[in-house]
Amino acid sequence: MRLDILTLFPGVFPGFLGESIPRIAREKGIVEIRLHDIRDWSADRHAKVDDRPFGGGPGMVMVCQPLMDAVETVQKMAEPPGRLIFLTPEGRRFDQTLAAELAQEDRIVLVCGRYEGFDERIFELLRPERLSIGDFVLSGGEAAAMAIMDAVIRLLPGTLGSPGSAAADSFVSGILDHPHYTHPVEFRGLAVPAVLLSGNHARIDAWRREQALERTGRFRPDLLP
Ligand SMILES: C[S@@+](CC[C@H](N)C(=O)[O-])C[C@H]1O[C@@H](n2cnc3c(N)ncnc32)[C@H](O)[C@@H]1O
Repeated sequence: MRLDILTLFPGVFPGFLGESIPRIAREKGIVEIRLHDIRDWSADRHAKVDDRPFGGGPGMVMVCQPLMDAVETVQKMAEPPGRLIFLTPEGRRFDQTLAAELAQEDRIVLVCGRYEGFDERIFELLRPERLSIGDFVLSGGEAAAMAIMDAVIRLLPGTLGSPGSAAADSFVSGILDHPHYTHPVEFRGLAVPAVLLSGNHARIDAWRREQALERTGRFRPDLLP
């Protein structure tokens, strides 16, 4: 998969991309990530990318020209042009189902906003998908892009050390994950549930399923029919 990120702050990404799962996926050649600074496309002599809103009011708006040129050029850099996604609070809510869908794509282009967001005409001209990571407002789309990238990259075949681990994660089968325990067997008077030490895999599977349902009812009853 190829991921192109368009941002005014490319310096936000190297730490995230250089560690753990994103780093492993890049090193294995499972994902190729290209960062593009939207400012590089500004035709303004001061490389301006934002301007005051028509109608007045606080804040600045991302202007059409640099962003349009950036998106159009980046999409032409490789084949296919990619699934074009703008990060924005009014977008469709990102979730595990959509992460799995995006993991099937050959190429995704993610566009990060800043300030008050994008000049609306950009949406009319490009007709991109709009995605949100939740009902709250971030200062910029970069954190949203990282959340989406992380959720998608870990689903790409070959990325995770144990191939089955993503399949057992919360939301994949519609409920939460079961609780996890590791060494030591006892810690500060609390013992690991005996069933997990039994070696009986049928019983362990049944216990985990029961625990996953119990936790879903307790923490996220909205997920249960
Ligand atoms: C300060 S926000 C703009 C908020 C906008 N004025 C509003 O109230 O809807 C700047 C940028 O952060 C990003 N952003 C903020 N919240 C987001 C969210 N929940 N999901 C995805 N992107 C978000 C978007 O790219 C947005 O253009």
